[in-house]
Amino acid sequence: MHVRTRVAIIGAGPAGLLLAHLLDRQGIESVVIDSRSRAEIESTIRAGILEQGTVEVLDRTGASDRVLRVGQRHEGVELRFGGEGHRIDFADSVGRAVWLYPQHEVLKDLIAARLAAGQDLRFEVTAERVEDAETDRPRVVARDARGGRVEIEADVVVGADGSRGVAREAVSGAYGGHFREYPFAWFGILCEAPPSSEELIYSNSPDGFALISRRSAEVQRMYFQCDPQDDPEAYTEEQLWRILRSRVPGTTLREGRVFQRDVLRFRSFVAHEMRRGRVVLVGDAAHTVPPTGAKGMNLAVADVVLLTDALRALLLERDTGLLDAFPRTALDRIWKAQHFSWWMTSMLHLQPDADEFDRLRQLGELRSVVGSEAGRAYFSEAYTGWPLPPAAADL
Ligand code: PHB
Repeated sequence: MHVRTRVAIIGAGPAGLLLAHLLDRQGIESVVIDSRSRAEIESTIRAGILEQGTVEVLDRTGASDRVLRVGQRHEGVELRFGGEGHRIDFADSVGRAVWLYPQHEVLKDLIAARLAAGQDLRFEVTAERVEDAETDRPRVVARDARGGRVEIEADVVVGADGSRGVAREAVSGAYGGHFREYPFAWFGILCEAPPSSEELIYSNSPDGFALISRRSAEVQRMYFQCDPQDDPEAYTEEQLWRILRSRVPGTTLREGRVFQRDVLRFRSFVAHEMRRGRVVLVGDAAHTVPPTGAKGMNLAVADVVLLTDALRALLLERDTGLLDAFPRTALDRIWKAQHFSWWMTSMLHLQPDADEFDRLRQLGELRSVVGSEAGRAYFSEAYTGWPLPPAAADL
């Protein structure tokens, strides 16, 4: 099957779906494909914090009318160390907030909006490769669920297919990227219990990191630092709760049945190239961050805001300037977010080879963040998100 469109988008994650939605609002047609089924996309558990700017884009452009109704506004977080909690008040420090609204809910909203608008969104179509990047007719070669060949020819191909997608190879394959591995992973659980805390708790304990997050009045999400080789099934529920309790000394956890568990491995990565000719990478296809700073989906949204403006200029005004500038402009924010995510990770986790000096230095670092207005403002500004580019106002 041969399809012709203006923008071929590989990946129906937050980046791909939001891009299709924003392009549609500019009158630019696109086709989105994803190898997964709709049910799989809508049920995969991912992170849950949206920056204020992300929420504004989703709400103002009609991508989600539920984020403000169902999402929970959080005006601060707790950093816990040395057996005590220290609240960082975003509202007080920078006059901004974040929203707890899980990524799969964002995806449900975006998929519904796209299908309601009669847009071309194809599930279970797997991209195999991208061809002719350097021409003005790049192509995605894909297979549908029955093994039939699907070829999508476009003015621009966008790789929003995550860190294991095929688009990255077409853009920066031979050039690779900058990356950092971490000697730990996160053990995540979903449990049936009331919330243990109104706000998120990021905890540095002598036994390692934990994060107490939430989902609803009845379901909570929690994580603790673990070995990347850990088998999620190797722990009894009682062991999981014992570990979690020991990681947040001074807090009482409300415990309940653990009904989902997973080990999340992570790394920091930035592709050397975000664009080759008419093929562009956005979101996790171009960069990944450890989850500690809650930046993953937000960075994808920031990329898409910039790229929408660049594609509008290219496809409606034949102006290539913004597309040429896209990697440089996007990387400015990407590296700030890379730094913040790495910094929070290194400040809160226990390195396997840490000695007393490392431990005490970390506590000094944490005290210097919570103990000064400048420290709290830096943290709050980064966590709630740097301002989006001015183009965000016209989407
Ligand atoms: C989550 O609720 O899943 C979550 C929240 C904050 C993070 C990471 C994950 O930094």
